[in-house]
Order: sequence, then structure tokens, then C-alpha cells
Amino acid sequence: MGNVEGKGSLRRRKLFVANWKMNGTTSFAEAYATFFLTHRSSVPPYAEVVFCPPTLYISTLRGIAESGCAFLGVQNVATEKQGAFTGEVSAMMAAESGCQYGIVGHSERRRFYQESESDIRAKILRLEEAGLIPILCVGETEEQRAAGQMREVLAQQLKDVASSASRLVVAYEPIWAIGTGKTPTPAEIGQTHQEMRALLQAQGCSTPTLLYGGSVTAANARDFLVLDEVDGVLVGGASLQETEFLAIIRCLEG
Ligand code: 13P
Repeated sequence: MGNVEGKGSLRRRKLFVANWKMNGTTSFAEAYATFFLTHRSSVPPYAEVVFCPPTLYISTLRGIAESGCAFLGVQNVATEKQGAFTGEVSAMMAAESGCQYGIVGHSERRRFYQESESDIRAKILRLEEAGLIPILCVGETEEQRAAGQMREVLAQQLKDVASSASRLVVAYEPIWAIGTGKTPTPAEIGQTHQEMRALLQAQGCSTPTLLYGGSVTAANARDFLVLDEVDGVLVGGASLQETEFLAIIRCLEG
């Protein structure tokens, strides 16, 4: 990501992605949209913000995107372009609904819906065709980490992902850190991001945007975001509280 003029110094852009997962109601989404429209001048210039609500609420948040203070993302898309795939939503439909980003390969999709590496690569391709920026999620389980397999797992998940995407965001989300209150140390995240960047650069993806995700809160976000290796955060639970998510976005101020 580029640089912006901060208070007296050049500061790198950071990406803040809210993944609501399957949470919220229409009235929650309306109140959330109103909150961010009211507080849009509080979003610092270094922050690029992306809201990924459930698909049915994307239109409810569209006003935020139209006001220019944030972008919209879809949490998942179909592997196919269109056709007889009941219940699926295509990348093209997400683009038409105002999305600029699409999450792909979240560990919950891999685990609960048996999403395979080839499904994930097909989805990256669909997102790219529709002009959406993929946010690819990768990460190891606690058992894989304990067995010393973390590097191997990440290398597998990152294999051949860059060829079809002109701009790629990768979120390192260790599965054991999601919704648990546990996180790797900032030093561990920095090291993992360096290794992931090298793997992606070897595929010709010279400037991937690398996020950290897993139990990010207003209390710990700054510890991760001050690292040069961390280009942003992917936030689940804490993004459901407007004030908490705004505090995460503002954590590098001052
Ligand atoms: P939590 O922030 O709730 O741990 O979730 C992380 C996540 O899975 C975001 O995609």
C-alpha cells in the first residue's frame, strides 16, 4: 500500500477489514451505517476501511461506500460465473452491488464447507474477472503449529495464488487465534509475514498487502499495526461493535 502524509511524517496506508461473519440484522446494519456516516471525519487518512457484512446487508451499507469513507466486501463468492447453483452469489453480482473486495478461503469456509485449494483458486479467478480485490485467508491449526508444520501449511495455501490476481491481499489468520482471545506475538507475526511476502514475491506478486487476523481488539491492534510487515488487520468479533472498530481504525493516531 502507498504512503500518506501524516502529522509531520509520511505514514504508510493500513487496511482495516471488518468481517461480520453471519451476524447482524437489518436494524443493526442500518445503525452501523449511520454510525460510520456520522463519524466518517474520524477515519484517519492512513486508513483504508472495508466492511464485509452478510451479503443481504451489503445494500444497507452502500451509503458508507458512496460517501467515500470506506469500501465494501463480500465474505464469499461462487466458484462458477453464473447458472444453476442454488444459493450461491457470484463475484459479478457482488461487484454490481458495490463491492470492491472479496474474502476467499476463510478457515470457516475451508472447515465447515469443505472448501478445497482448487475451489479457492477458482474463486480468486472469479473475483479478479469481476474486478474485485481478493482477500485470501491462510493460517495453521494449533496442532499443525505444535507439530512444526506451520511453514509447510502456509506454503501450500499460498501456492499458485498470485498468478490470476493483479492485486492480492493475504490475511494471516492462525485458526487457534480466531475468536479465542489468543494471538501470536507481534514478533511471530512479523516473521510469518516476512516469509509469506517472500513466497508471494517468488510468484511474481511484488507488493502483496498482508493483514493479520485473529482476536484483534482495540487493546492489541496497535501492537500489530506498528510493524512494517503488517499492512492491516482483518477483524471479526470486535468489528461488530462500531466504537471498538473505530478505535481499532484510529489506534495509530497521535
Ligand atoms: P475474531 O476477530 O473474532 O477472532 O475473528 C477473526 C476472523 O476470523 C476474521 O476473519
